[in-house]
Formats: sequence, structure tokens, C-alpha cells
Amino acid sequence: HPPSLQMEENSGLRRSMCRAKGAAPGFKVAILGAAGGIGQPLSLLMKMNPLVSVLHLYDVVNTPGVTADVSHMDTGAVVRGFLGQAQLDDALTGMDLVIIPAGVPRKPGMTRDDLFNINAGIVRTLCEGVSRCCPKALVNLISNPVNSTVPIAAEVFKKAGTYDPKRLLGVTMLDVVRANTFVAEVLGLDPREVDVPVVGGHAGVTILPLLSQVKPPCSFSPEEITYLTNRIQNGGTEVVEAKAGSGSATLSMAYAAVKFADVCLRGLRGDAGIIECSFVASQVTELPFFATKVRLGRNGAEEVLPLGPLNEFERAGLVKAKKELAESIQKGVSFIKK
Ligand code: NAD
Ligand code: LMR
Repeated sequence: HPPSLQMEENSGLRRSMCRAKGAAPGFKVAILGAAGGIGQPLSLLMKMNPLVSVLHLYDVVNTPGVTADVSHMDTGAVVRGFLGQAQLDDALTGMDLVIIPAGVPRKPGMTRDDLFNINAGIVRTLCEGVSRCCPKALVNLISNPVNSTVPIAAEVFKKAGTYDPKRLLGVTMLDVVRANTFVAEVLGLDPREVDVPVVGGHAGVTILPLLSQVKPPCSFSPEEITYLTNRIQNGGTEVVEAKAGSGSATLSMAYAAVKFADVCLRGLRGDAGIIECSFVASQVTELPFFATKVRLGRNGAEEVLPLGPLNEFERAGLVKAKKELAESIQKGVSFIKK
């Protein structure tokens, strides 16, 4: 072995001995697209997560630099880098959680669906790798358009015979993070005290904040409801326009991705009562996929929770959301089935 590998093995051996003395074991996490705008801050934040023991950083460019950089942080996780498709399988083997922010972002004037042609193929290739190398891993899918990439991933897993609907989670956490922030601003509260369920999907009108179910209980004027719904549905576009061609949300997304990954890992660890919104296989509506609150456990999304009572405004929003969602889901399914 080269000296660095030998040293890593030695340190791995010492760590196992420490664990035998009672230290908590951690989880193995891979980030696919780790050198990108989301991938880099996400790698940084996952390296800081005490539940992570091994962090694999995979991309088709620039992973050696990102890996060297992040690996110098004096936190627990052992970091390893993987570059290019020839190293995809090594990056994925043995992983408990795979987070996927690989793919192109929007520029002003584009919809998320405009990213389909490039990102659908990227997600397919990466999910084929998951089926081959870590079929039991939880997958947190961030790449847009989420409303289509999650159905694509499901079809890839079905084809490979590895599909477990509980383990495939579309990340809609950023919609919840934004909703909590904007609602807290209107109410004059600390955003950490606010919980806004956001259901449906992750694009325009499919993003459906349930303002009637905000905690702590509160009421909004019709003007506030219109303002908040529009702002939450267009939060992504607000960032795309402010970045003026250099990309979409990366920092708030990395924050949201880590918040979501952390609840997934706590679920895997067996913590009780872990509830978050996610775009998953669902029977809550007639659509095969839908975002609602889910209960996370040792097997992933163990329970998909119902929508709860909706007011008239939300029921009208749900009709619009389902129409667009149905098309995006079908587009993803057909991409693999065709
Ligand atoms: P970026 O262009 O900065 O980074 C993407 C990274 O993916 C790059 O490093 C690129 O090399 C890598 N990549 C490309 N093809 C790959 C492949 N085949 N395998 C592995 N890596 C590959 O983009 P970004 O700003 O990080 O955004 C990434 C994706 O996340 C976009 O599709 C964006 O729309 C989406 N996004 C989703 C949400 C959400 O809420 N779900 C929020 C923000 C962004
Ligand atoms: C977001 O909501 O910020 C992401 O989906 C990126 C985008 O294109 O808006």
C-alpha cells in the first residue's frame, strides 16, 4: 500500500478499537456531484455531522481538490474522493445514504423542466450505480426537475429489481426552509419556532404550502396568504434571478440538504418521532408520487402521512398542483420505459 493508504487503514483499525470501547458507530454517506455549487458546501456540512463516519465525495470533475480541502477538517468522518465514472462503483459500495445534487442548474428564464434533457440521463446513470453497489442505501435526490427525477430513479431501481419505495426520497426541504423563513418574517417570529408543511412537488404551482396548518397556530389575511404562497412557490426563481446567470440556490440548498440528511440518519439510527416533508411514492392522492410529511425510521420513509384538513384556497391549489405533477411524473417514467 502507498503510505497514505496504509495510514488510513491503521487509523481505521484504531477507530474500530475505540468503537469497541463504546463510541457510537456512524453512517457511511456518499455525495454524487460533490464538486458543484451545492456539492461543496454540502460536503463541508456533512463532514461536520457527528452521525457520519465515512464521507465519499464523487464527481466527474474537481473531486481531488474538494476532498483534500474538506479532509483537513478536524471532525470525525473519514473523507475519500472519487473522480469520473470509472470510480462510481467504489464511491457507492457500502454506503448507507447517497445524496445526489449532480446535474445542471437553471439560468434566468428557464423552468426546472428545461433541465430534464441533461439531468435525466445523469440521474439514470447514478441510480444504476446505486442498484449495483448499495441497493439498500437511502437515496436523497436533489437534482432537478425533482418531480421527474424521482420517478426516473424509481423506474431504474424497478428495472434492476432493487426498488424499495421507502428508500427513495425527493428532497423538498428547501421549500419548507423557505416557507418557515418567510412565514416567520410575516409573523415577527424566530424561524426556528415555525413549522410550515409544504406538500405536492418541487416546481412552481406544484409547491403547495399549507398555511392553514402552520405551527404555532396563527391566522393570515387574504393578502398575506397570496404574498406568502407566491413567494414560497417562486423562491427558487428569486435566487436564479438574483444570481443572474451564475446558477441557482446552492448555500440554502446545502443547508436544507444537510437538515434533511440528518433526519434521515437519525431515522436510520432508530430515533422515534422523526417527521419531515419529502417527495415520495405515495397513496395520499391518486398520483404515484407526492410530497407530504413522512415518518422516517430504520427503513427510510416508513409512513406517509395524510394531507390533513385543507381550506378552500389550498384545495384549489391542490387541483393545479396535481395537474402539473401528473405530467412531470409521466415524463420521468416514460424516459426509462420508452
Ligand atoms: P452545479 O453545476 O454547480 O454542480 C453540479 C455538479 O454536478 C457539478 O460539479 C458537475 O460536475 C456534477 N455532475 C455533472 N454530471 C455528473 C455526473 N454524471 N456524475 C456526477 N456528477 C456530475 O449545480 P448546482 O447548483 O450544484 O445544482 C445541482 C442540481 O441541484 C441542479 O439540477 C439544480 O437544479 C438542483 N437543485 C435542486 C434543489 C432542490 O430543492 N431539490 C435546490 C437547488 C438546486
Ligand atoms: C430551488 O428551488 O432553489 C431549486 O429547485 C433550484 C431552482 O432551479 O430554482
